[in-house]
Amino acid sequence: MNMLGIDIGGSGIKGAIVDTETGEFASKRLRIDTPQPAKPGPVAEVVAEIAAHFNWRAAIGCTFPAIVQHGVPMTAANVDDEWIGTDAKQLFESQTGNSVVVLNDADAAGIAEMKFGAGRGKAGLVVILTLGTGVGSSLFMDGRLVPNTEFGHLIIRGKDAEWRTSDRARQTEGYSWKRWARKLSEHLQYLEFLISPDLFIIGGGVSKRSEKFLPMVDCKTKIVPAQLRNRAGIVGAALAAAELR
Ligand code: BGC
Repeated sequence: MNMLGIDIGGSGIKGAIVDTETGEFASKRLRIDTPQPAKPGPVAEVVAEIAAHFNWRAAIGCTFPAIVQHGVPMTAANVDDEWIGTDAKQLFESQTGNSVVVLNDADAAGIAEMKFGAGRGKAGLVVILTLGTGVGSSLFMDGRLVPNTEFGHLIIRGKDAEWRTSDRARQTEGYSWKRWARKLSEHLQYLEFLISPDLFIIGGGVSKRSEKFLPMVDCKTKIVPAQLRNRAGIVGAALAAAELR
């Protein structure tokens, strides 16, 4: 089945039609700059523009970079505060004329990774961390998602972990791979202590350079890079939309 997945990020909003049987794109990817400031109205217009571009008349899956409960963003760590409490699902539905499922971006990436990537067939407790502008997380028990975990915001050494282990922190603070791997190790060790996972999957754009830091990460749990890279959000969103049917 083909489904439209849209991935809303801080700098770009990306959409593609996804073959939900294979996880491959069934169209070219369309990327439009995220309007600045990224307030609900202008962002919803871009979502509608993407749906119109694909002439889409079916359910749409849409990621959002915050906690999303029943279609409503509840936090806004890296997006405009006006989103908090805005019914994103209803807004996107009225703009596109289609039914829309809105879910956290890391949850979407995790859904895709569990079905088509590094988490395929993995039972037990799997944690996926996406290291990007922020740090997103998703948690799966025997393949079933526990939504809206926010392991990126654990407090480590008195600081929000996201400020130490996001790829943005690595770049803006100029951390060496070794130093960053040490910070990531502390983050993962704390998670190990809290929930004893069976597998860590590390995603986000930086995962394509995993050989630079994963070998230096020190934790007991098996740790592997994500496989879907920047496709994960769109694919996971499309899979979530397929569930709507
Ligand atoms: C947000 C998460 C989001 C992550 C990645 C964090 O700051 O709190 O909800 O998944 O960034 O975008």
